[in-house]
Parts: sequence; C-alpha cells; structure tokens
Amino acid sequence: MSPMLRTDRLLLRSWRPADRQAFARMNADPEVMDFFVAPLTREESEGFLDRIEARFAEHGFGVWAVEEINTGEFIGFAGLLHQTFEASFTPAFEIGYRLARHAWGQGYATEAAREAVSFGFERPGLGEIVSMTAVGNVRSRAVMDKARDDP
Ligand SMILES: CC(C)(COP(=O)(O)OP(=O)(O)OC[C@H]1O[C@@H](n2cnc3c(N)ncnc32)[C@H](O)[C@@H]1OP(=O)(O)O)[C@@H](O)C(=O)NCCC(=O)NCCS
Repeated sequence: MSPMLRTDRLLLRSWRPADRQAFARMNADPEVMDFFVAPLTREESEGFLDRIEARFAEHGFGVWAVEEINTGEFIGFAGLLHQTFEASFTPAFEIGYRLARHAWGQGYATEAAREAVSFGFERPGLGEIVSMTAVGNVRSRAVMDKARDDP
C-alpha cells in the first residue's frame, strides 16, 4: 500500500479512477505543457498514468496524485520519477511536479515537492534525488530552488 503524505494544504495520495479525466485535461492544456514536446492526447495521458501506477507498484512509492485538502479537488501530481534514460546522472530518482493551470501561483508545487523530497530521503532512504527542466522553465526552476532550501 503506497503511503499517503499530507502537508498543511495538500494530500499526496494514491490514484483513483476518477482522477483520470482531470489528469487528461491538465495534460491536454498547451500552457501546462509549454515546455514539453506537445500536449498529451487522452490516450497518451492514460498511458502515462498507467506507467505511473506500474512504477508505484514496483517501488512502493513514486508519483502521487495531489489533492487540495480544502476542496477535495485533484489538482495535479508530484513525486519521485525513476529515470533510466542514458545520462551521466542516471539511473536516478527525479523530483517531478505538474499542476493544473488554475492551481499555479499558490505555492502548492513547492509544498508538494518539499514533502516528496523529505519522503524520498527518509523512507526509502534514497541517497540522491535529482531535478531537471528546460532552461526556460522559470517556474519549475523556482520550485527546484525552493524545494531544496529549508522551508
Ligand atoms: C512548475 C509548476 C508546478 C510551478 O507552479 P507554481 O504555482 O508557479 O509554483 P509554486 O507552487 O512554487 O508557487 C509559487 C507561486 O505561488 C505564490 N504563492 C502564493 N501563495 C503562496 C504560499 N502560501 N507559499 C508560497 N508561494 C505562494 C508565489 O508568490 C509564486 O507566485 P509567482 O510565481 O506569481 O511569483 C507549474 O508551473 C506547472 O505545473 N508547470 C507545468 C508543468 C511543468 O513544467 N513541470 C515541471 C517540469 S520539470
């Protein structure tokens, strides 16, 4: 059973079938997907979530669904992605996060990322967690900087 994490304002929880629609809507938003190759089709989004769930089953942790406690609304994902593509720093666990556009600008990504990083170092006892993004993804870079500092 994957552990559920809780912050002041967010739940990082396991996925529910009902999340799939909002997940697909977020992945189809060109603004959210600006720094990726392209927005995802519904089929691509389903495949991505299937892989997330498979990795969760394999490792016992991974990428959580992020829920706003106040509203109970699914707003995106955050967690640890196992990256195996060839690079000097792989294989490695990467901190990853993506929020629906309406959930930006509230500090949620940083709050979730910090919790996922703490979990990664403390529970599975990872020795290293990496982060990466496109050079121009200023918002993501800001989250990285904040997530590695003490709150
Ligand atoms: C990357 C992403 C998650 C960042 O979201 P974000 O909302 O900008 O990030 P944070 O959660 O750290 O929020 C910071 C903002 O919240 C504001 N904020 C409001 N209340 C806050 C609070 N209580 N605590 C902290 N920040 C708060 C900050 O002022 C800041 O706003 P600003 O950017 O307008 O100055 C989001 O842009 C996204 O999903 N992008 C698409 C996916 C993506 O690129 N993912 C990363 C791939 S590597």
